[in-house]
Amino acid sequence: MTEDRPLPQVTVLDAGGQYCHLIARRVRELGVYAEVKPSDTPAAELAGRKAIIISGGPSSVYEAGSPSMDAAVFGSGAAVLGICYGLQLMTRLMGGHVQKGEKGEYGHSRVNLTAGHALFEGLEEREQVWMSHRDRVESVPEGFSVIGRTDTCPIAAMGDASRRLYGVQFHPEVVHTPKGQRILENFIFGVAGCVRDWDPRGRLGLLEAKIREVAGGRNIFFFVSGGVDSSVAYTLCLRALGPDRVHGAYVDTGLMREGETDFVRGVFTPMSGDTFRVVDASSDFVGALQGVVDPERKRHIIGEMFVAVQDRVLATGAYTDGDWILGQGTIYPDTIESGGTSKADLIKTHHNRVAGIQKLIDENRIIEPLTSFYKDEVRAIGRELGLPAEMLDRHPFPGPGLAIRLLCSDEAKAVVKREEGVLLPVRSVGVQGDSRTYRSALALESVSRAAVGEAAETVNRVADVNRVVGLAGSHAPLASLATTPCWIDSQRLERLRRADAIVRRICLESGFEKKVWQFPVVVAPLGVPGRPDSVVLRPIDSMDGMTAQVVVMDEPLLREMTAELLAVPGICAVFYDLTHKPPGTIEWE
Ligand code: XMP
Repeated sequence: MTEDRPLPQVTVLDAGGQYCHLIARRVRELGVYAEVKPSDTPAAELAGRKAIIISGGPSSVYEAGSPSMDAAVFGSGAAVLGICYGLQLMTRLMGGHVQKGEKGEYGHSRVNLTAGHALFEGLEEREQVWMSHRDRVESVPEGFSVIGRTDTCPIAAMGDASRRLYGVQFHPEVVHTPKGQRILENFIFGVAGCVRDWDPRGRLGLLEAKIREVAGGRNIFFFVSGGVDSSVAYTLCLRALGPDRVHGAYVDTGLMREGETDFVRGVFTPMSGDTFRVVDASSDFVGALQGVVDPERKRHIIGEMFVAVQDRVLATGAYTDGDWILGQGTIYPDTIESGGTSKADLIKTHHNRVAGIQKLIDENRIIEPLTSFYKDEVRAIGRELGLPAEMLDRHPFPGPGLAIRLLCSDEAKAVVKREEGVLLPVRSVGVQGDSRTYRSALALESVSRAAVGEAAETVNRVADVNRVVGLAGSHAPLASLATTPCWIDSQRLERLRRADAIVRRICLESGFEKKVWQFPVVVAPLGVPGRPDSVVLRPIDSMDGMTAQVVVMDEPLLREMTAELLAVPGICAVFYDLTHKPPGTIEWE
């Protein structure tokens, strides 16, 4: 069997942290293939690894049920690096002591490093690092020495050079630790002796050979969303087997951004001729959403409609019979159930795996050419395939599309003046602790960076609010705005599409696009007669969507954007979301 990945030299043990995939990605950036496995993977299964990295995680090592690991890993001959929780787990399992912390340490810190350690080759004695922890190591296990200290954390790094076991309390994998990548490089090459074995570029031939092998004599059918993963997977299969044997369909839900359907058609039709088709299901989707206000009901209806439409497409093309298998753009992180991702599903229902294709999955008639790769690597493959940058570099876009960015209302309700600001009679989803909230937003009269710092505190203090926005501009005084009963209809969808297109164009032209991870544009039914809707701008930075930080744009850019948005017919005001995630979610619904 053709293999599209080498035997791993490096395994990252996932202790439930949002950072475990980031660690593996960073190792791969060094040119060494790395995989992620559950923290409690038996040492025997890891035999032959040169390096093991134990990730951070949200738990405390003393909590019942917190992630643990096989202590035999420490004597397996592999070099081991524990990061944050990984350091604490290592300490506890090897006989050191971890102290439960009351108040954590989060953010930038300066660490004093002991010179001469292989792990810190090429670093200064004092370096900036990123900390995010509550508990800390109180005493190191026998054989270890302390090799890093900060003012607040006396054991910020420890090591036992003879056994090649190391631990750091800070996070070398994040960009906020400027020399972090050098530390990982020192560990992977200097300490563990790994050799370079990974470059996702130059693999097209191998990937195509593997596709031909898995498909055998069978043909492949794809639902293409226009997103990076399914587009790259579909294109790879087209190259491997040709358009007669690889058919694709794109479902136009009517909930897409401006120009999206034409763009996708324009990319794939020349490659595949009439074996790629656009299925116009917009009236099905928009019709089913009449009268629906609740975000979760919207998601449910859209999910069900996808199932119905996909089933229809599969049945009419007879793709469920005979010699067809289903192609999917599943990528590496999708294949690993980590603490972080499973929790995300409780906040909002995602519907990536629909029941209509279950038959094919059950019968193992499925092909997923990208399961070894991270998103950045998929983009690199896409570039080699010649797919347009506009398709590869786009921000993530939710499956339910504009439906969850077009807020609806079933009542006419005015804003209410409060001590802290103006209470808007529109609700949005938030997340506090691990729970979902669905509450009103509070509006301030202006947009300021200072307000971002205060927003979380305001949300904590004001019980019926989970978001704070600032007014960027309006045709009418804030105090005069009210909701009107309305749902998803073609006129409001068009309004949102125009607003979204304006924002996207200005972002691309100004370069602001590069400063954000995602930039949802929301339309809420808030305004005055003749101008019943308002726009909310939601630019954020994030690593993986699990948490997110507000990005405040410069004033001249915001002024230009606001002026253009206020010129859209029906738009009354423009707001700027000032709430990080948590307590807000990235999308409003
Ligand atoms: P939230 O709003 O939960 O979003 O902070 C986190 C990330 O997930 C995306 N998102 C979705 N993606 N189906 C999807 O495929 C959904 O129902 C959905 N809801 C949110 C969101 O765009 C962000 O990137």
